[in-house]
Amino acid sequence: MFLKPQCGNRFLKGGILLLLILCLILMLLWSRDRSRSSVQPRSPSQFNDTPFQKQPVRRCDNSSPFLVLLVTSSPDQFETRSAIRQTWGSERRVGEARSVTYFLLGHGRERQELIRREGAVHQDIIQGDFEDTYHNLTLKVLLGLEWLCRSCPSASFVMKTDSDMFVNTEYLMELLSQDTRSNVYTGLIVKGARPFRQTSSKWYVSKEEYPGDVYPPYCSGIGYVLSTELACRVWNISGRAPLLKLEDVYVGLRVAELKVEPVEIHTRPVFFGNRVAFSTCSYRHLVTSHGVRSSELQKYWRELQDSAAEKCP
Ligand SMILES: *[C@@H]1O[C@H](CO)[C@@H](O)[C@H](O)[C@H]1NC(C)=O
Ligand SMILES: *[C@@H]1O[C@H](CO)[C@@H](O)[C@H](O)[C@H]1NC(C)=O
Repeated sequence: MFLKPQCGNRFLKGGILLLLILCLILMLLWSRDRSRSSVQPRSPSQFNDTPFQKQPVRRCDNSSPFLVLLVTSSPDQFETRSAIRQTWGSERRVGEARSVTYFLLGHGRERQELIRREGAVHQDIIQGDFEDTYHNLTLKVLLGLEWLCRSCPSASFVMKTDSDMFVNTEYLMELLSQDTRSNVYTGLIVKGARPFRQTSSKWYVSKEEYPGDVYPPYCSGIGYVLSTELACRVWNISGRAPLLKLEDVYVGLRVAELKVEPVEIHTRPVFFGNRVAFSTCSYRHLVTSHGVRSSELQKYWRELQDSAAEKCP
């Protein structure tokens, strides 16, 4: 059959148009797929750029503390931070071992000026450039680890804890100084926990964030301790992993990636996720008790100091 050139041209144009439309459809489908898998790992450079130290923070690398306590706190908890500074967060000593405490905060918003002044006085506020929300807690903890690894890598151990805790810093230092293991990851160990899949849950985790059915054993966020070396290895690999909202699970996952398992630091429980009824003898032999108010902190602390000479059964 003989085709006029004009006619052939028309066929050619039609074909190109069809191809273009096909390409467009394919591109659309591809981009939809990409946006659906919204959990993008952060690149290390993005992570390393996390701005922090909006204000001077006491460095500790020339004085090598034994234990660094990183306490997550919200901008408006002025009174709580003050109570912690006067009690378990004050510099404690056990023999040569010394503890130092820092608070981890996000944006101060309308309280920023007050926080700036507080930080200028105490130099213990590590503040990140992100919204101070529950869902940003993992960012907050990573900010703390980043600070530790950059400004205080000579510390032996780091503990992450919350502002509604009682922490027996001295007892913890005693237990840690007796521990000779190289990689320590200890706390209230949670085993066989499953991700919450109901979107309404505060602890909701999507299959994209964590596809598994069970979390590896991890230490509850009420208070966990890592040897600094391990903590910095966790921080080092955190830039590669998608951010999970649950900071304690997130740290547990990274530790598991490093093939390290959580360990108990004592044969009996010493990390409590509940509120332990106060008695000087019970508080002398625990590391954490949860849900303790600032006023109680000061009262318990005084009683513990006053009864230091008493023997416990
Ligand atoms: C976390 O902080 C960032 C930076 O300020 C903010 O854009 C984001 O909304 C916060 N995320 C949540 C879940 O609060
Ligand atoms: C961090 O990771 C890099 C490459 O993966 C490695 O070379 C470096 O030694 C790591 N640093 C620490 C402190 O683990």
